[in-house]
Amino acid sequence: MYRLALLRHGQSTWNHENRFTGWTDVDLTELGRQEAETAARLFQEEGFTFDVCFTSVLKRAVRTLWIVQDALDLLWLPVHKTWRLNERHYGALQGLNKAEMTAKYGEAQVFEWRRSFEVTPPALELDDPRHPRYDRRYGETPTEDLPATESLKLTIDRVLPYWHANLAPEIRTGRRILVCAHGNSLRGLVKFLDNISEQEISNLNIPTGIPLIYELDQDLRPLRSYYLGDQNAVNASIQAVADQAKTKA
Ligand code: 3PG
Repeated sequence: MYRLALLRHGQSTWNHENRFTGWTDVDLTELGRQEAETAARLFQEEGFTFDVCFTSVLKRAVRTLWIVQDALDLLWLPVHKTWRLNERHYGALQGLNKAEMTAKYGEAQVFEWRRSFEVTPPALELDDPRHPRYDRRYGETPTEDLPATESLKLTIDRVLPYWHANLAPEIRTGRRILVCAHGNSLRGLVKFLDNISEQEISNLNIPTGIPLIYELDQDLRPLRSYYLGDQNAVNASIQAVADQAKTKA
């Protein structure tokens, strides 16, 4: 039996401000840093340690991982960073307030942008300065592979190749891996692992900063999965993610 640890980054400044974030490289809030410290404590209390880590090229995930590694005295571990674990790209919605978008376009439209399987938010123009092609961290990736917007499906289409080529082989060696990523890149991975339908995945939200553990069989099929820590706190955090787009009463 293998164990896989997944961790969404702690609260970011734009999570706090309720803005669509996507590939915008915002940092953690103080609460987000505390969430990362709490995640490390939960790992320690449950006897987890790691041999190799994977994360995205966005600082909210990288810093969350650093905080966990530091707290577990594992800063020396190998860390692999990849854009393929980035958050889904939210296109021209990036920076806009989720509740304001609900007030302007209605709950159904914002829910479709956030949680449908194949709908892509409005795309960035190719000459939009926010387009990834202008960001040198993506310099080695062909422009045609860089998104101007993404659906969950398109996100999965660039996460799964990394799972098959990098994550799964690493797990099969027996090395204990920690993947620190984002709400929707992790939703895509969870959809694949648990074989969740395109309809059902709309109802799944992943909380910030709480470890999600998978126990996998020899074929990397899930035997069970569970969040560490107080389950009431887990459920409250999951609901908070779902409620982000609610207009203020
Ligand atoms: C973002 O990119 O806005 C968040 O990290 C994820 O947002 P969502 O939960 O609205 O998809």
